[in-house]
Amino acid sequence: MPRSTVARINLDALRHNYRLAQAQAGSARAMAVVKADGYGHGIVRVARALAGDAEKFAVACIEEALAIRQAGLGQPVVLLQGVHAREDLRDCVQHDFEPVMHCHGQLDWLASSPQPRFWLKVNTGMNRLGFRPEELGAVVAGLGPLASNGQLLGFVTHFACADDPDSGMTDSQTRVFEGATAAWPELMRSVGNSAAHFRSGQPLYDWSRPGIMLYGASPMIGKTGPELGLQPVMTLEAPLISTRFVRAGESVGYGASWVAQKDTRMGMVAIGYGDGYPRHAGTDTPAAVLGKRIRLLGRVSMDMLAVDLTGAPEAREGDLVELWGTTVSVDEVASCAGTIGYELLTGVTARVPRVCE
Ligand SMILES: Cc1ncc(COP(=O)(O)O)c(C=O)c1O
Repeated sequence: MPRSTVARINLDALRHNYRLAQAQAGSARAMAVVKADGYGHGIVRVARALAGDAEKFAVACIEEALAIRQAGLGQPVVLLQGVHAREDLRDCVQHDFEPVMHCHGQLDWLASSPQPRFWLKVNTGMNRLGFRPEELGAVVAGLGPLASNGQLLGFVTHFACADDPDSGMTDSQTRVFEGATAAWPELMRSVGNSAAHFRSGQPLYDWSRPGIMLYGASPMIGKTGPELGLQPVMTLEAPLISTRFVRAGESVGYGASWVAQKDTRMGMVAIGYGDGYPRHAGTDTPAAVLGKRIRLLGRVSMDMLAVDLTGAPEAREGDLVELWGTTVSVDEVASCAGTIGYELLTGVTARVPRVCE
């Protein structure tokens, strides 16, 4: 029998979160960002579940877009990094993929290949990818007829600090983007990640691009997904495989880093960093058993971790421990591990079966 360590995927919660994003977007439409294997939830599973609602999907690379097509879904798929090779443009035309072209090299390929509909990336301050605002006029002029015959769909930019309500950078990037794209009011615009959905007054133009919020985790510093009205989609759970008392003065696990101050009933849970549970989550990171919150003890091993069962004396071997999900948000665990929910969700390894509820 396989071990009962699983990631349960709640597709109703996913749809709830998408519908919230769409409602927040108002007259804009929300393309569902499903890159990185649907943020660890399974790209095909997620895309199929959203296919009745989402009019477009967005991914990082062409392999992910092809997975959506091979699953039989017909929505246009936006390639957020454009194409990585000239030959990929043929696939884009054939499958209605919309690359976001971000550099002159990609535009050169476009000039000598089959031409899909595409977007242009504008660098408004993130300084990862995109054309500078002041060169946009020349870039569009250089596209010749592609700019006016419907092949150029519009402009995309990405925010650096939308997760931080105290930062002025999002307003400044928005102003730069508006100025840079004002000459082409007939073309579409897309700026907003999940965090932009939670900024009041933030224009989302024609298409927003929510990712993390669809999965119920928080895009905002200092808030959990449920505090923002999101429903967790993934519940990561694993069985208690042993319980014991450690005596006052005894230590638990590698490095003997946690030492019992008093006799303590503890349990071992069959999950570890080999499953994608973060090794940096230390003592006091929350988990839950039988609906009660408990805490981790000591260091996370590759296949196991220890929990304090003082608060759940009825817990027995075989009971399932929730590492994150509806009782403990992935955002809380991420904060204890010094990271973000994005990394935890995308990091659950292939050893953990995803099971749909
Ligand atoms: C260009 C772009 N748009 C949208 C998203 C979605 O962002 P989030 O998951 O924060 O909503 C990402 C994610 O990294 C991205 O790179």
